[in-house]
Amino acid sequence: MKTLSSRNDSQSPLQVVVLVSGRGSNLQALVRSINSGVVNAVITGVISNNASAPALKFAKSAGIPTTVVERRKNPNFEQQLIDAVLTFNAELVVLAGFMAIVGANFIRTFENRVINIHPSLLPSFRGLDAQEQALEAGVKIAGCTVHVVVDEVDAGQILAQAAVPVLEDDTAETLAERILAEEHKLLPAVVHAISVGSIQLGKLQRESGAKKSQNLKHALTGESLQSIAFSNDVKK
Ligand code: GRF
Repeated sequence: MKTLSSRNDSQSPLQVVVLVSGRGSNLQALVRSINSGVVNAVITGVISNNASAPALKFAKSAGIPTTVVERRKNPNFEQQLIDAVLTFNAELVVLAGFMAIVGANFIRTFENRVINIHPSLLPSFRGLDAQEQALEAGVKIAGCTVHVVVDEVDAGQILAQAAVPVLEDDTAETLAERILAEEHKLLPAVVHAISVGSIQLGKLQRESGAKKSQNLKHALTGESLQSIAFSNDVKK
């Protein structure tokens, strides 16, 4: 069985496969950052469990190969998902609004190669409707997290977070919108940091000690990233 290829060249674009279920605005943000040269990566494929996901339409229009793996009434969902990822020969698997839970076998196969973006400051508000959970809890600061995917929902190692204020008159929708704007910066920032070795996930280790300790806020340019906090020197 083919395995994910290992990084052995710190200059080459990181090969990324993105799993989506719906709108795909994070996918779009990632593609924008790649196309503008800010993120050193290439999206080798997009996989969805939802054939009518707008994200798939976007991927096709951007010339990215796509695959649909239906989950409903599909006893082989997990294996087919694994096979689809392997086909795209990716080094990193990004869950960006992927609404199906990936199984233990998937996680074992791609251990330390799968990351997810979640619209809360984990470990608070795991699971569905995170923004609504935040409002119900009455928190004054909300945000988003990129984390490593493990065999427990939204529980893996936190790689980076960005915070936003919760306003008096926020609804789940207005809060989600404010968080989403941060997600669109956070996810590309993390993918780039993994690509250049500033964040190291298992076999993705690829940089010298000096580079490792670089301040990740400087890994990308732009004031927009000021609000992002990375975990320090993440590695396994
Ligand atoms: C985002 O809020 C993401 O954090 C969550 O699902 C949403 C996906 O949005 N996991 P989009 O499909 O990327 O627009």
